[in-house]
Amino acid sequence: MIIGIIAAMNEELEILLSEMSLEETKVKANMTFNKGKLWGNDVVAVVCGIGKVNSAICAQILASEFQVDKVINVGVAGGISKEIHPGDIVIADNLVEHDMDTTSFGDDPGQIPRMDTFDFKCDIELVESAKKACDNNKDLNTFIGRIVSGDVFVADIEKIKWLEKEFKALSCEMEGASIAHTCYLNNIPFVVIRSISDNANNGAHMDFQKFTPIAVKNSTAILKEMLLNM
Ligand code: ADE
Repeated sequence: MIIGIIAAMNEELEILLSEMSLEETKVKANMTFNKGKLWGNDVVAVVCGIGKVNSAICAQILASEFQVDKVINVGVAGGISKEIHPGDIVIADNLVEHDMDTTSFGDDPGQIPRMDTFDFKCDIELVESAKKACDNNKDLNTFIGRIVSGDVFVADIEKIKWLEKEFKALSCEMEGASIAHTCYLNNIPFVVIRSISDNANNGAHMDFQKFTPIAVKNSTAILKEMLLNM
C-alpha cells in the first residue's frame, strides 16, 4: 500500500521530510515527489504549491503516475468557528469548494454544477484513524467536520460569518477540497488534517506567520501517530 501525502508549502512538509528515508525523487509538473519509507509506511510525499489548481494537479499525478492507494493532505488552515484557536486540529469529514458559484443558475453556493455530489466525503477509516491519533494527543484540541477551500486567503470577518452560515464550515484553506475532488473522481480514499494558524480575520496574515510553526508541529504529530498505527 502506498500513501500519498500532500502539503501546500515547504514549511508544512519539512519536519516530515527530515524523518523520511528517501528512496527516489521524481519531478513532475514542477513538483518534487519524494518516494520512500515514513513511520513504517511506503509513501510519496510532495509539496504541491498553493491553491486549488496546483493541489488538484498534484493529486492527479499521485493517482495516475504513482498509483497511490490513499491520500492524506496535511497543513495549516484558518479557523472559522469561535471555539477554534491557533494550534487546534481540524479533521475534515467532508469538504466543499466555497468559491464555486453558479447560483445564477439556481445552484447552491459551493455546488459544482452537474456533479453528483455537493460535498466530498473523507474515507471513514482514515477519519477514524486520525481521530484515534488525536485521542492519543490529549493536549491538542480536536474538531471534526467540514473544511471549505477556495482560491482566497480569508482575512475578513464578514467572509468567515458567511462561510460559517452557508457551509457550517469549521475551517478554511486553499487545497483540501480540490484534492478531495480529484480523489473522488479517481476513487481514492482520502482525508484532510489541518492545524489552525489563524482565525481568518483582519489580523490573519500576522497570526499566520506567528502560528504556522506550531500548527505544522501539531498536524505533523497527528500524521505521525496515524502512520505509526496503520
Ligand atoms: N490557510 C491558513 N490560513 C488560511 C486562511 N485564513 N485562509 C485561507 N487559507 C488559509
